[in-house]
Amino acid sequence: PIIHVITPTYSRPVQKAELTRLANTLLHVPNLHWILVEDSQRRTPLVTKMLQDSGLNYTHLNVETPRNYKLRGDTRDPRIPRGTMQRNLALRWLRETFHKNNSLPGVVYFADDDNTYSLELFEEMRSTRKVSVWPVAFVGGLRYESPKVNAAGKVFGWKTVFDPHRPFAIDMAGFSINLRLILQRPQAYFKLRGVKGGYQESSLLRELVNLSDLEPKADNCTKILVWHTRTEKPVLVNEGKKGFTDPNVEI
Ligand code: UGA
Ligand code: MN
Repeated sequence: PIIHVITPTYSRPVQKAELTRLANTLLHVPNLHWILVEDSQRRTPLVTKMLQDSGLNYTHLNVETPRNYKLRGDTRDPRIPRGTMQRNLALRWLRETFHKNNSLPGVVYFADDDNTYSLELFEEMRSTRKVSVWPVAFVGGLRYESPKVNAAGKVFGWKTVFDPHRPFAIDMAGFSINLRLILQRPQAYFKLRGVKGGYQESSLLRELVNLSDLEPKADNCTKILVWHTRTEKPVLVNEGKKGFTDPNVEI
């Protein structure tokens, strides 16, 4: 099967660095399709060029998260979680593109632009029949969070401290979905409103599977193959108000 990797991304000083590192990882993965979705009004020249030069098989999309939804703390209009509209657009693209061709085998994975992915991870997820799950490092205030797997190899809960009673207490980087399932449940999207922190993943997964359907990967969830790393914001104070360096030089 082809692995469709869905990545939301937005413009900021480290964007090109993040995308360069992710592209370098994905270049090592055979049979992969990268769906990069910019959180912007237009597809930007920076990302367009990067993708063209990358040598990857890709689709370049964009949708801007409305500004007012990005604000935190407004009780009447809670923020839309980061990257959600972008992931939903990619799901719609997959459905529109593959609905006639639903015999083409595929696996869908949501890969944020700043995480760290082992190559082994992609080979683990390739055999996903419905939804595969595995541990993710550096989330929920722990070294790693993990699905709980019993002796029979079934997932029966979540080894997390933050709200372990969520239907699917798992980070975005911790699961993959068979494309067929995405096509069979055309109404399944990430919820945009009224989702409490940590419930975004559950809002999609509960439309697709039950706990008993989950397929534990990474040696029954005993190995860490993905890290929820976050990049430090670079200090650019010496640029001053007008900027010191040449703005025509792309970083
Ligand atoms: C955590 C989860 O791991 C994310 O999957 C989840 O979307 C996010 O929280 C959330 O709060 O909604 P975190 O590291 O805090 O991740 O989030 P970011 O890495 O800042 O953003 C997740 C993805 O969305 C990234 O690929 C980022 O480039 C993209 N993003 C972020 C946008 O497209 N637009 C934004 O305004 C911010
Ligand atoms: Mn992140």
